[in-house]
Order: sequence, then C-alpha cells, then structure tokens
Amino acid sequence: TDLSRIRNFSIVAHIDHGKSTLADRLIQTTGGLTDREMQEQVLDNMELERERGITIKAQTVRLNYTAKDGNEYILNLIDTPGHVDFAYEVNRSLAAVEGSLLVVDASQGVEAQTLANVYQAIEVDHEIVPVLNKIDLPAAEPDRVKEQIEEVIGLDATDAVEISAKTGLGVPDVLEAIVNRLPSPKGDPDAPLKAMLVDSWYDLYLGVVVLVRIIDGKMKKNQKIRMMKAKATYQLDQVGVFTPKKVEVDELGPGEIGYFTASIKEVADTAVGDTITDDKKPAAQALPGFKPNQPVVFCGLFPVDSNDFEDLRDAIAKLRLNDASFEYEMETSAALGFGFRCGFLGLLHLEIVRERLEREFNIDLITTAPSVVYHMYKTDGEMEELHNPADMPDPVHIDHLEEPWIKATILVPDDYLGGVLKLCEDRRGIQKDLTYAGSRAMVVYELPLNEVVFDFYDRLKSITKGYASFDYQIIEYRGGELVRMQILVNEEPVDALAVVVHRSKAEARGRAMCEKLKDLIPRHLFKIPIQAALGGRVIARETIGAMRKDVTAKCYGGDATRKRKLLEKQKAGKKKMRQFGRVEIPQEAFIKALKMD
Ligand code: GTP
Repeated sequence: TDLSRIRNFSIVAHIDHGKSTLADRLIQTTGGLTDREMQEQVLDNMELERERGITIKAQTVRLNYTAKDGNEYILNLIDTPGHVDFAYEVNRSLAAVEGSLLVVDASQGVEAQTLANVYQAIEVDHEIVPVLNKIDLPAAEPDRVKEQIEEVIGLDATDAVEISAKTGLGVPDVLEAIVNRLPSPKGDPDAPLKAMLVDSWYDLYLGVVVLVRIIDGKMKKNQKIRMMKAKATYQLDQVGVFTPKKVEVDELGPGEIGYFTASIKEVADTAVGDTITDDKKPAAQALPGFKPNQPVVFCGLFPVDSNDFEDLRDAIAKLRLNDASFEYEMETSAALGFGFRCGFLGLLHLEIVRERLEREFNIDLITTAPSVVYHMYKTDGEMEELHNPADMPDPVHIDHLEEPWIKATILVPDDYLGGVLKLCEDRRGIQKDLTYAGSRAMVVYELPLNEVVFDFYDRLKSITKGYASFDYQIIEYRGGELVRMQILVNEEPVDALAVVVHRSKAEARGRAMCEKLKDLIPRHLFKIPIQAALGGRVIARETIGAMRKDVTAKCYGGDATRKRKLLEKQKAGKKKMRQFGRVEIPQEAFIKALKMD
C-alpha cells in the first residue's frame, strides 16, 4: 500500500463528550458496516463498558474512504480509553498513530480528562484536529469553547470542525480533515520487520489476539516472529484487520495497523510495547520501551461465604486471562479467612473487576479498604513494596516509608472553588496552579494518592454537586512520616483493620475508627475495649459496654416458640458476623470503619 494513502489516528475526549458516537458515525459513513450490522456503539463492546458508558480496552478499526480529491484512503482508528486509570493504555495507543481528533462537547467545554488526554497526545507529537461536538444542542457555544481550547490548551482552534455526531451534521468534514490535516505514516517496506505490540486480548475461539502497528517491513501468515523483550518466538497463524469485523489479509505493511494470532496461551505472554520482528532477519534495534503498567492500589477480596473460595479463585483466574494489568495473590486474614490480595491500576479499575466478579460470576464479596503501594526502606538498606498494611514488619526494621504522589487537575465552577481548595488542603495537598477559563477555575494540586483512594471522588462530587471534573497522574514516590496504625478489639490486633496513615492524621483517624467500631460491633456478654495503636502506644480508645441480660431472659422461659424464634434470629444475625477471638465483628464493619465523614 502507498503510505501517502494511509492515515492513523485516535480520538481523545472527556467522558461523555461523544467519542464513541463519533467513531460509530465514521464507521457508518465510510460503510464499514451495513445499517443492519450497525449496532449502537460498536466500539464499546463489553457489557459493562456499555452500561457505564465508558471505554476500557482500546479497540481498532480500519475504514476505507474515498476523499474529495478522488483518491481512496485507509483510515485506521484506534479507540483509547477515556479514564485516567487506563492512562497507560491511552499512552501506548497514542504512540501507535500520528494524529488525534480532540473532541470537545460544545455545550460543556474543556474538562479535566480533555486536558489529561490531549497532553498525552501532544507528548507523542501528534498533529491534532479540534472537533466541537453536540452543536445541535441549544446550549452549544462553539465560539466560547474554541476560545477556551486556545486559552487552556494552547491549540489553534480557528479551523476546529463543528459537528453533531448524533445527527451526522459535519461528520464528512471530519473525514476530510483527517485526510488533509493529519500526516501519513513513514516506514520502509524492504527493511526487516519491526512492529509495535499495541494491545492483546483473549478470544474464546482464537486464543490470544495481538494488535500491532507495523513500523518497517512486512508481516505475513506463517512467518516466524520474535518478541524482542519477551524473547519468545511464534509462528503466525492469522494476520488481519478489523473493519470492524475481523478480515484476514495476505500481509500487513509499514504504517498499517492490524492483528495476528499465533497460538499464544496467555495475554500475560504479550508485553505491551514489545517490539515484534522477524526471527530469521531481525531488526537491529527494538523500539524505545514503555513504562510498565503497575498496579498502584491494592485491596483484599474475600468471599462472604467461605465455601465460595474455589469459585472465587476460578473467577479471578478467568478475569486475569483478559486483563494482564490486574494482579492477585492468595491472602489469609485472621478476620476474613481465605481470599486474595489484588492489585489494580486505580479505583475505577478496582470497581470494574469487583463488579464483574459479583455480576458475571455470581460471587458475594467482601472488599477490604483499598491501600496504595508503599515503598518500604528497611534498616538493611533494602527496598520492599508493601501491598498490605497488615504485612508491615516491626518498626525497628524499617528506616522509612515512601508513598506515591499524584498531580491532580480539577476543573470546577467558581462557586465551589473554596470547598475544593479546603478538601485538597485537608488531604495534605500542595497547590501548584490556579487559573481561570471563563467562570471556571482550573486547579492543579499535588496530593498523596493515599489521601485520594478512599473517598476523595465522593467528597469532591458532593462538595461541587457533581460539577467538578477530576483527573490525575502518578508523579513520584516521596518520603513521608507514615506509620502503621493497628486496631485492637478486645486487646487483639485485627489485621483487616490495619492502615498506614500520615503521623499528623493518626490521632484523628484512630479516634474516628474507634468511635465507628463502637457503633458497628454489637454488645457482648463482656466489656470490649477498642483501641487504636501506633506500635505499642495506644492513641485512642472506646469501650463497648457488656450486655446485661441474655437475649432470652425477657421471655420469662414461658413462650417456647417465641424463644425459638429469637434464637433463630440471633443465629441468622451471626452468619454475617466474623468471629474474632471472643468477639464477633459484622462484615460491614471492615469497610465502614475506614470511611471518613
Ligand atoms: P466514553 O465512552 O465514556 O468515553 O464516552 P464517549 O465520549 O464515547 O461518549 P458517547 O459517544 O457515549 O456519548 C455520550 C452521550 O452524548 C450519549 O448519550 C450520546 O448519545 C450523546 N451525544 C454524542 N454526540 C452527540 C451530539 O452530537 N449531540 C447530542 N445532542 N448528543 C450527543
């Protein structure tokens, strides 16, 4: 194929600004699918994605387009996930193409994710075409939004394309802009094969399917390829493209985007960002590496019913087949029994996995409070990652801890700015920037991720009545005065309640947890002290008084059925409890105790 007739692009946008709708329109307009085949939102095809209206996995589609200049072009669209948890997937999808459409809802304007995503596109040197969507809405203000794009992002928006992805108005102009304003790819068809591994997923019929962007050379059926980083070789089975239907082709050349299959067993065998080359005639140099996709948030997942443990193990293994960014290892908790410690890219990722386990596999779960990954420097100079506060060794072996920090961008209407600043300050934030775009403020803060994982989103939403938009990026690990706080119930430490906190927050946090637990744990026949402790030092204490009478005492021994009913009720209540030493702790207590309000 003639390289000058290829355009590779992606669409970057804030959630709900119309990325999927535009992608569907482009497929429809270029005839990739007949109307009958055209389901709503072809590109977002996971059930959950559809329901939540968010894109998780990057998808790709090849469009054939005859432009006004009379030439036929191949347009390859790589869809990128819109959410910050998947920033890494955005990053590598963008690296596989030369340009982006920046879609902004003309009735909303620039939002936090617009910024985060467009900065990533700028970073990989994309040519960017601004597209103002939803101009059919009465509230659309394309001129104001153009100004905003110039002011806030610094992109020339004079030639922004004004469209309605919903009605189709202006969509042909988008296709012309792709052909005329985005660069064509470069590459040498005669050089040894060099391709970028963009994505991979598990297909029930084909096994692992690998999405690639060819840089140089050619990829053909039956070719023996080598993955340069993974140091593995495979014989290619199918080579093809998505239209969005899978279509086999004879070969893929430079600038092209397509897929192959090669009897690869697990998604985990395909390192995203790896360089694929010909085994016999390998490329001299691999592509520059990507930073690996590291889980940053961990939490424990335990079956409510311990008999479901095996089912949970199977379900987690199945999910992992298709999501190599999610990690797990077995965990035993004195309070919760057998379960798994799982690592996620962020909170949304955590929630998606939890929901899929409950919904698709029908398992009731207890999720323990999410915790970030700490870097633990020991007195012997070694660094270890700490995934679970309960695993922290005796403080005498620890020199210091470091925690991940993020750079958070928040866009918020003026009226709510005060509340947002207070929230960020309360969470140990450091203000980096505060600018205005019209009646909205853009605030940039550096924050410890540990202060954000639990309920920052919820607080932000309620403070701003849902009008704020938020995005973040991990920036670095920084030292801090971090300590492990244990909660002792009846003088015994409860592992599932251990947390790492900043020293300045320990007392308030400890007091709040003890007060909460006092209400959450029912009375027993004896007094129960609840204590928060740093090392051996108790910093907060509450006491649950003893129950005065046996529950059946008030039945006067007379009414047998009533007595039996009461006992049954008590037994049913017990099922949702976890025995801890002599104390029974209700399951909900493990999460509720950690909520701050
Ligand atoms: P994510 O997949 O979450 O990133 O969202 P998205 O950006 O793909 O947004 P999507 O295409 O799902 O559109 C969000 C909502 O806006 C849907 O309800 C669309 O029907 C609606 N929408 C998209 N384009 C237009 C438009 O041009 N006009 C109007 N009125 N509504 C639109």
